[in-house]
Amino acid sequence: MRLKGKIAVVTGAGSGLGRSIAVKLASEGAKVAVADISLDNAKETVELIDSQGGEAAPFVSDVTCEEQIQHLFEEVDKKWGGIDILYNNAGISPVGTIETTSFADFQKVISLDMYSIFLGSKYVIPYMKKNGGGSIINTVGTFGFKPIPNKIGYACAKAGAMSLTRSVAIDMAKENIRCNAICPGFVDTPLNKGLVGEEREQFLKTYQPMDMKIQAEDIANTAVYLATEDAKAITGQGIVVDGGTEACLYY
Ligand SMILES: NC(=O)c1ccc[n+]([C@@H]2O[C@H](COP(=O)([O-])OP(=O)(O)OC[C@H]3O[C@@H](n4cnc5c(N)ncnc54)[C@H](O)[C@@H]3O)[C@@H](O)[C@H]2O)c1
Repeated sequence: MRLKGKIAVVTGAGSGLGRSIAVKLASEGAKVAVADISLDNAKETVELIDSQGGEAAPFVSDVTCEEQIQHLFEEVDKKWGGIDILYNNAGISPVGTIETTSFADFQKVISLDMYSIFLGSKYVIPYMKKNGGGSIINTVGTFGFKPIPNKIGYACAKAGAMSLTRSVAIDMAKENIRCNAICPGFVDTPLNKGLVGEEREQFLKTYQPMDMKIQAEDIANTAVYLATEDAKAITGQGIVVDGGTEACLYY
């Protein structure tokens, strides 16, 4: 129970990585605000946490909306009295090149995968300052370091998210607020539902040196580590959890 007494908010916690992160933080004793654009999905995650004896509550919040983010934190503070951990996780992963991506679609992914991190971080900081510190964690991705073909919007958004992680970390260091990113490789979640079967196996064989399937729990375990005092000297980092993909130029 390394997070007993802590209060955590996880965005996009109604599915995939966010759900797994919320469940894991709760299993370590944190009270978890399960935030998602879908109330039904958020409630499912809360039921899962309840069934394991943890404490959580569902919240509807669109991470692209400034007012909704502010309202989310107000509600969590009202319910539990403070916020110690913010996990900015909600995001999408569209494909497209400079030729095939419309400006509207580019703006959409920048808003969801990058501006959301600006908004979440900006509005949680007053609560963390009041508590004497906190931990902000962002789901970035290896494309935050280098793009691959046909992912222009996603790669730009994640690169911006990585840069935001470093800037927030530096600006808030004296306030004892740490900010880090987790950069997952390929994990089977609804986000990746288009890549299955033989095509998926081939993709992993080509790009991922380790012969394994990265699980959402692998990301959640890293999130717990970054949220705890075990990581008290770590800030401004992108922790890559990808079976060796990003380390390797050609494979
Ligand atoms: N799955 C992977 O392989 C992988 C790899 C690298 C990075 N990521 C990143 O991890 C994060 C989570 O991805 P996932 O695979 O769990 O995806 P997912 O589609 O399973 O879950 C995303 C969740 O975000 C929610 N959401 C979507 N738009 C929202 C909005 N505007 N406001 C609030 N919530 C919203 C969805 O309802 C959903 O519950 C994303 O930022 C994604 O880019 C995923």
